[in-house]
Parts: sequence; structure tokens; C-alpha cells
Amino acid sequence: MNIALITGASSGLGRQFAIQIDYLSMHQKIRKIDEIWLVARRREQLKELSVTLSTRTRIIPMDVTNDISMIQYHEILQQESPHIQLLVNCAGFGLLGKFKDLDIADQLAMVDVNCKALTKMTYFCIPYMAKGSHIIQLASSAAFLPQPNFAIYAATKSYVLSFSHALSEELRKDEIIVTAVCPGPVNTNFFTIAEKYGSNLAVKKLTMVEAPAVVRAALRAAYRKKTVSVYSPLIKAFHVLTKCMPVKWILYVLRKFK
Ligand SMILES: NC(=O)c1ccc[n+]([C@@H]2O[C@H](COP(=O)([O-])OP(=O)(O)OC[C@H]3O[C@@H](n4cnc5c(N)ncnc54)[C@H](OP(=O)(O)O)[C@@H]3O)[C@@H](O)[C@H]2O)c1
Repeated sequence: MNIALITGASSGLGRQFAIQIDYLSMHQKIRKIDEIWLVARRREQLKELSVTLSTRTRIIPMDVTNDISMIQYHEILQQESPHIQLLVNCAGFGLLGKFKDLDIADQLAMVDVNCKALTKMTYFCIPYMAKGSHIIQLASSAAFLPQPNFAIYAATKSYVLSFSHALSEELRKDEIIVTAVCPGPVNTNFFTIAEKYGSNLAVKKLTMVEAPAVVRAALRAAYRKKTVSVYSPLIKAFHVLTKCMPVKWILYVLRKFK
């Protein structure tokens, strides 16, 4: 059985990946997916999504940071031995604000979801992948540069980007394609959570894009065997800038423009 497994499928980008993978599979634009496995904590949202899809789905309501849930999920894989055609790791969140002011447990929870859970999920899934399978990891443009007032989130996404690059090389011979997706601000529920401490990202209003376009570009990049997907001209320019200029200089300029 060919499956696509999507974490963070209850909203935003994960939900959009489910919709577009369903469409591409039903219209034979990609290899046929027999089942889409939808992972997130909110069961109701997963159910609502599930009835809108044409592909058969399996709802897996779980917290990806919960060790027992992860063991149970691993057992499902061992019992059913599916062929994972696509793994999309979308579960994640960010918190804006100064490191010293934010609750430490909340900040470490970002590391747990964005880094630890993504790593574990990837590790559990690789044995069920074969030539032509895809791993899509949601990083962020925040991965390109250390970000004051978004310090831990940006650090977690740098981890995702670095890990994805290395994994892409390691899996090259197996012909498993790894793509890190690095969008700037996207219009999802993300900022409702990110702004819970009151800080906000001023630049987001200028650069905000819609989830369907980001996911379309990400899937196109993945099927073109690209290691990184960056959407929108502004974020592409930002990406190039972070590669050309010393980090210290960029942070200095950004400080002056605040
Ligand atoms: N929106 C942006 O501006 C933006 C930009 C760059 C990168 N990203 C990245 O894109 C990914 C998706 O974000 P989004 O914009 O789609 O935000 P979103 O609408 O808030 O979606 C986040 C998803 O993650 C799931 N999730 C969070 N914690 C979880 C946990 N412990 N266990 C299981 N699922 C969990 C949520 O589901 P439940 O609450 O139901 O568990 C939800 O489905 C994230 O990794 C984010 O960092 C977002």
C-alpha cells in the first residue's frame, strides 16, 4: 500500500498538502497514493478534512512529542508495513518575543515539536521508503538567519534546514528525495499562536503569502528533486542576501531600521 503521511494536517500548510496530494494522486499527476495518513492532535479538524478528500484516509490523532504515542505509531508501521511514498513533516509552531521573557517550557516545546519529533518521525519512516519516495520538511525563511525576538524558533528551523541538506546527501544513493521548504510568513493559524506573548512580526504584513501557492511550489520543487524550496521573489532575495553578506552586517542593518 502506497501512502502519504502528513503531520500537522489539521490546519494551515499541512492541511493544504493533504488537499494537493489528494488532487495530484487522483489526477494521476504523481504515483497513485492509496491512503493519506493525517496526523495532528485535533481529531475533529482531521475528520473534517478527511471527508473532503477523494483518497482513502487514516486519521491518527496524536501529539508528536508524546513518546508513548510515537511508540504506538511506530507499531502501526511495523504491523502494516506500508510503502511511504511521501512524508510531509508540517507539525510545528513558533513564539515571538525575547528569549528571557518567554516561558522556558513553552520555548523548549518548540524544540520538541520542530526538531525532536520531526527527527523521530523521519527516522521511523525511512525504513518504509524506497526509490522515488519523498521527504518534505517544513523549515522556514527564519532558518537563513539568527532572529532576535524569534530566537528559538529560528534556531529550530536552522536545525531542520541543516538536517535536511545532510539527509538529502545521505539518501542520494537510495534515490529518496529530501526537500526543505522555507517560506516567509504564510497566512495560516501560525501567527495566532506565535503572537500569544504580544510581540508581532512587522515584516509579515508586507510579505504574507497564501498557503496553496507555497504548497504548490513545494511539491513542484520536491518532484523536481530540489533540496530547498523558497517561495516568493522577496524571500528568494532574502535567501541570496543571507548567503552573500556576513550575518553580523545584516543584523546590524535590521537593528538600525527598527
Ligand atoms: N505560517 C507561516 O508563516 C510559516 C512560515 C514558515 C514555516 N512555517 C512552518 O510550517 C509548519 C506548519 O505551520 P502552519 O503555518 O501550517 O501553522 P498552523 O496552521 O498553526 O499548523 C500547525 C500544525 O502543527 C500541528 N501541531 C503543532 N503541535 C503539534 C504536536 N505537538 N503534535 C501534533 N501536531 C502538532 C497542529 O495541529 P494540532 O494543533 O491539531 O495538533 C497544526 O496542524 C510549521 O512547522 C511552521 O513552523 C510556517
